[in-house]
Amino acid sequence: MTNETDIIRKRYDRLAPYFDRIESMMEKMMMGELRDKIWQKVSGDIILEVGVGTGKNFPYYPAKSITAIDFSPAMIREAKKKSHQSGVVVDLSIMDVQQLDFPDNHFDSVIGTFLFCSVPGPKQGLVELKRVCKPGGEVLLLEHVLSTNKFAAAIMHLLNPITVRLVGANINRETVKTVQSCGFAKVEVLPESSHIVKLIRAVK
Ligand SMILES: C[S@@+](CC[C@H](N)C(=O)[O-])C[C@H]1O[C@@H](n2cnc3c(N)ncnc32)[C@H](O)[C@@H]1O
Repeated sequence: MTNETDIIRKRYDRLAPYFDRIESMMEKMMMGELRDKIWQKVSGDIILEVGVGTGKNFPYYPAKSITAIDFSPAMIREAKKKSHQSGVVVDLSIMDVQQLDFPDNHFDSVIGTFLFCSVPGPKQGLVELKRVCKPGGEVLLLEHVLSTNKFAAAIMHLLNPITVRLVGANINRETVKTVQSCGFAKVEVLPESSHIVKLIRAVK
């Protein structure tokens, strides 16, 4: 694990017990609906969720074989508690998305929500998602990105060091462009996207 990865991992370890409370307002206002939309697009039987966090996507899981990973042991602990309480069946492991311990061409769909704002090497992580996805399989992402509005973008660049320090998240990432640079057969930004929150589908 690189030094930067270790720093961000520790930040999420510290946040894990409070994470759901910190995000509860935003979750109710918009995130829940977006989670539902992206999970409805998941297809196939063998599914990987990356950056599972505390398991906020559990209510949207289809009844399929789901494996989920996160590099923060404290987040995985919270997710395990939630899976026991809710009865969701999921195979949870501690793993870095930049170096996945899965074989090539293994999953039908790989999904991540609000993850690539915080991965220190986003391109490395995305190339790993492509590697473990079957040919013709899909990577689905729900991500907040840098605004296309110049004024808003300037503010986001200005505030970014603070959000990274506080919650490990970059608010000025251009994740659509990064996905496009990874050599997928097709990359689409889905119409449910807003100018800041993007639903992205990449086909291997
Ligand atoms: C903003 S939270 C989002 C959590 C969850 N996906 C959600 O939608 O609520 C980002 C999550 O990504 C995880 N994460 C960040 N970098 C990672 C990496 N390199 N490998 C695996 N997980 C990572 C963090 O530990 C954290 O749980």
